[in-house]
Amino acid sequence: MEATHDHYIDGEWTDGTGRETFESTNPATGDTLGTFRRGTESDVDQALTAAEAAESEWRALSRIDRAEYLWDIYHELRDRHEELGTIVTRECGKEISEGKADVTEAWHMVEWAAGDARHPKGDVVPSEIPEKDAYMRRKPRGVVGCITPWNFPVAIPFWHMAVALIEGNTVVWKPAEQTPLCGHVIAEMFDDIGIPDGVFNMVQGFGDAGAAIVEDQRVDTVLFTGSAEVGQQVAQTVAEQPGKLAACEMGGKNGIVITDEADLDIAVHSAVMSSFKTTGQRCVSSERLIVHEAIYDEFKDRFVEVAESVAVGDPLEEDTFMGPLIEPEHVEKVTRYNELAREEGVDVLVDRTELDPAEIPDGHEDGNWVGPFVYEADPDAPLRCTHEEVFGPHVALLEYSGDIERAVEIHNDTDYGLAGAVISEDYRQINYYRDHAEVGLSYGNLPCIGAEVQLPFGGVKKSGNGYPSAREVIEAVTERTAWTLNNSTDIEMAQGLSADIKTADDD
Ligand code: UN1
Repeated sequence: MEATHDHYIDGEWTDGTGRETFESTNPATGDTLGTFRRGTESDVDQALTAAEAAESEWRALSRIDRAEYLWDIYHELRDRHEELGTIVTRECGKEISEGKADVTEAWHMVEWAAGDARHPKGDVVPSEIPEKDAYMRRKPRGVVGCITPWNFPVAIPFWHMAVALIEGNTVVWKPAEQTPLCGHVIAEMFDDIGIPDGVFNMVQGFGDAGAAIVEDQRVDTVLFTGSAEVGQQVAQTVAEQPGKLAACEMGGKNGIVITDEADLDIAVHSAVMSSFKTTGQRCVSSERLIVHEAIYDEFKDRFVEVAESVAVGDPLEEDTFMGPLIEPEHVEKVTRYNELAREEGVDVLVDRTELDPAEIPDGHEDGNWVGPFVYEADPDAPLRCTHEEVFGPHVALLEYSGDIERAVEIHNDTDYGLAGAVISEDYRQINYYRDHAEVGLSYGNLPCIGAEVQLPFGGVKKSGNGYPSAREVIEAVTERTAWTLNNSTDIEMAQGLSADIKTADDD
C-alpha cells in the first residue's frame, strides 16, 4: 500500500499530531489517488511557529534573491506541464486542456511575481515643503495564511503564495481537501528547490485546520479564495483581530448581456464557454444570460442546440468539453437546484441532469456526472434559481426588452459581483455596460472567464472584499510606510501648521 502523504512543516515532511487520514478521489472514476494526513490545530500551530521563526532571515534577503527560489519553481512547472496538467485533471476532473491551463496560469503568476522583483516597489512622493523628501515604502506583513479551493488547485495557490513570498512574507498554506495531491506536489517542489526552512509550510486538512489559521494571532494576513459563506466567516473572524487583514475572493452569479446589436456567433460562443467550461465550476462561470428580445429566439435555438450536444465525458480525452463535478455532494446540490428551478415554475429547455448511460465512458460509472440544465425565466421574478450561485452547468435565459440600461439593471440584480460580459457591436452599449456593471472583472465580446494574472482579480458585493490575486495581492501582503526626511536644519510643517514653540516668556 502506498504511504500516507504528510504535511510539510519547517522544511520537513511530518505526520503531524493527528491520527486521522483522508483520501483524494478521482471525480471521473471514483478511484483513490492517495491518502493524506488530516491536519489538526496543533499542526497549524507548529507551522505558524516555523513561519514566524523564519521571518527575519527571509525578509533580510533582497526581493531579487527571494525571486531566485521562485524562478526554480517556474521552470519546474513548465518542464512538468504535461504531467502536472494530468494530475490536475485526474484530481479535480477538469478536461485536460483546462488541467494544463491551470499549470500554465500558475507559472504565469510565478513569472509575474518573480519578474516584478526587479522593479522597485514604493513611490517617491513630492512634499509640499521643498526641503523634504517623502517616500511610500513597502514592508512585508509577516506571516500569510493561504486557504485555496479545489477548482484551480495549482494556479490559485500561486496567486496567493508567489507575491506573498517575493514580498518577504512567510507562508502557511492549507490546500482544499478535495485536491490534496496537487497540494502535495507543490510542497514537493518547494522542498526540491531548497526553500529555507519555515518559509513555506503546508498543512493538509479540512475547514477546522483552515479555521485554526484564520483564528491564530500570529497570522498577519489571510488570503482566502472559496465559497461566499466561508469567506464571510473568514472576514468576520479577522475583523475582530486588530491589525490583521483578510483578502477574500468568493463566488458569483455571473451574467452576460447579449444586446440587440450582438454578433450572434460571438454571443453563442461566449455564452457556451462561460457557462459550461469547467462544468460551470469556476467562480466566474455564467449562470445568467440576459438576451434582448430582438435576437432572443435565434440565440435560444443556437444555445440550446449546443447545450443538448456538448460533449460530457472522460476529462483526459481531448475531445471532451465537460468533465465531471468535483464530488457526489456537489451532484446532489446541482440536482437540487435543477429541481428547484422546476418548482419555481421556469420553462426548462435542456435537462441533462442525469446523463444517458450511453454517454458515460466505460470505467467511469462511479464518476460525478451531470450535463447542462438550461431554462428560461422571468428576469423580474424573485427566484432562488436565478439569484443563488449553483456552481454547475445550470443556466437561465432571461429575455429583456428595451435599452442597455434595462439589461444592466437585470444584470446587477444579484447579491454577487464577480464577473460579467456584454456582447454588442455598439460601442455606446459596451461603454454603458463597462461603466455600470457591478463586477470586478468585466469583458466585452468575450466569455466572462479566462482572466490573466497581471490584472486584478476579485469582486464586489458578496463576491469579495479584496483581491487575493496578482498585482492587487501586494496590497494585502505588504505594509506601506510613509517616510519623510528633512534636508534642512529648520523644521517646517505642511498644511501651514506653525512650527513655532511659544513659551510663557514670549509675551
Ligand atoms: C475561478 O473562477 O475560480 O478567470 C478562478 C478565470 C481563471 C481563474 C478562475 N483565470 O477564468
